[in-house]
Amino acid sequence: MSTTTSVSSRWSSKLAFILAATGSAVGLGNLWKFPYIMGQNGGGAFVLVYLFCVLLVGIPVMMAEVYIGKEGRSSPAHAMGKVAREHNISSNWSYNGALGVLAGFLILSFYVVIAGWAVAYIYYSASGAITAANGQSAVIQHLFGSLVGSVDKLILFTTIIIGVSVYVLSHGVKQGLEIAIRYMMPALFILLVIVMLYSCATGDFHGAVQFMFYPDFSKLSFSGFLVALGHAFFTLSLSLGIMIMYGAYLPEGTSIAKTSIIVALADTVVALFAGLAIYPVVFAHGIAPGAGPGLLFKSLPIAFSNMPLGGFIATLFFVMVTFAALTSVLSLFEAPIAYFVERRGMTRISATILCGVLIWLLSLLSIFSLAGASWATFKTPLGNGFFDILDYVTANIMLPVCGLFTAIFVGWKLKVNKRTAKSFEMKVGFSQYIFCLRYITPAAITLVFLNAIGVLPW
Ligand code: PFF
Ligand code: NA
Repeated sequence: MSTTTSVSSRWSSKLAFILAATGSAVGLGNLWKFPYIMGQNGGGAFVLVYLFCVLLVGIPVMMAEVYIGKEGRSSPAHAMGKVAREHNISSNWSYNGALGVLAGFLILSFYVVIAGWAVAYIYYSASGAITAANGQSAVIQHLFGSLVGSVDKLILFTTIIIGVSVYVLSHGVKQGLEIAIRYMMPALFILLVIVMLYSCATGDFHGAVQFMFYPDFSKLSFSGFLVALGHAFFTLSLSLGIMIMYGAYLPEGTSIAKTSIIVALADTVVALFAGLAIYPVVFAHGIAPGAGPGLLFKSLPIAFSNMPLGGFIATLFFVMVTFAALTSVLSLFEAPIAYFVERRGMTRISATILCGVLIWLLSLLSIFSLAGASWATFKTPLGNGFFDILDYVTANIMLPVCGLFTAIFVGWKLKVNKRTAKSFEMKVGFSQYIFCLRYITPAAITLVFLNAIGVLPW
C-alpha cells in the first residue's frame, strides 16, 4: 500500500499561495547574498545576466514545479513519482526530488548560520553597539569581525535559529507565525524602502547606480554566469520541492503563470532594493564591493549609526531580516521532514528534532570555516573552506541540475495537451511557455554549465 499523504485542502485564495511562496522566496538570498555576489562578480553585467536567468529559467521552472504539485496533490517527495506514474513514465523521476532534499539539507546548514548573524545584529542594534559607532566604518568592521571570528557566538546564534525553527515546526504554531509574517513582510518592504532612500540620499547614489545598472562585461567571468544562474534558483526557492509543496494546495482557477510571475517579481524587487540600500554606503565609505559574505553587515550598520532614531530602526530592520530568514528556513525544513515521515515512518515531532540535530551538527562545518579554523578553510577551485563549498555546490550545481531535470520532465516527458493547458490556467502564452521550457530553459542551463567548465570557445 502506498502511504502517500494526499492533499485535499486548498489555499483559501490565490493570495494565500502568493504569500506563502513569497515568504519562502524572500529571505537572506535577497538581502544578504544577492548584494555581495553582485559585488564579487562586477556589478551591472552580473545583474543583467541574473535578470535573464530569472526570466528564461527561474520563472519557467517555478511554473513547472507548481504544476507538478497541482497535478500530484501530495508532498514533494511523492508528487513527482505520482505524476510520472499517471503518465506511464518511470517513477525514477522522483530521484530528482531526492537530490533536492539533499541540497536543501546542505543549504540549511549554512543558511541557519547567516540567519544567526541577523539575530546577533538585533542584539547589537538594541544594545547600542551600532549607534555607538557614530558612522565610523572601522568600528562597524570590527563589530562584524568579532562576531564571525568567534566560534562561541556563531554557535550560540545558530542554535537560537535552529531551536526556534524546531519549536515552531513541531508545535504547529506555524499558522500563528504565518499570520505574523503576513504583516512582517510588507513591513520589511516599507522599512527597506526607507533605508534605501536614506542611503541613496546620504551615500554615493551615483556610484551605486553606475555599479549596478551599467553592464561592463569585461568584469564578468565565466563562472560569474554560473553564479547568476545558481542564484536565480536559490533566490526563488526552486528545485527543492518547495514550490511543488505549495502547488499542491493551489485552488482551481488560479493562473500558474500569473502567480509565479508575481512571486518572482516581488523577489527581484526586494533584491534590487537591497542592492540600492547597501551600495551607496559601500561606495561612500570605501568598502570593497567584493568584500564577500559580510557586505550587508559591514555596510548598512554604518548608515544606521548616522541616522536619526538609528538604533531603533536598525533593531526593527534586523528583526525583520530574521523573520524573512525564518520563513525561508521553515520552508527548507519541510522536505527533509517529509522524507523522514513518509519514507522512514517517523512521527513528525521526532523527524523534526532529528533534522534539527543533523542540521546543527552540519552547521558546525560552516561555523568553523567562517571563524578561520585551519582544517575548515582549505582552498579548492570551487571556493575556500566548507562554507564557500557548500554554498557554491548547492546553489550553482545541485539546484540547476535539479531544475534542468524538472524542465525536461514537464516539457518533454509529460504529455502536453489540452488538459495540461487547462491545468496551467493560462489564457495567453501557453505554447510560448512550453517552447521556452522545452528548448530555451534547458539550453540556457546547459550552456552556462559548459561555459563555466571552459568547454565553449569564447
Ligand atoms: N529563497 C530563499 C532566499 O532567497 O533567501 C532561500 C531558499 C529558501 C532557498 C528555500 C531554497 C529554498 F528551498
Ligand atoms: Na529570494
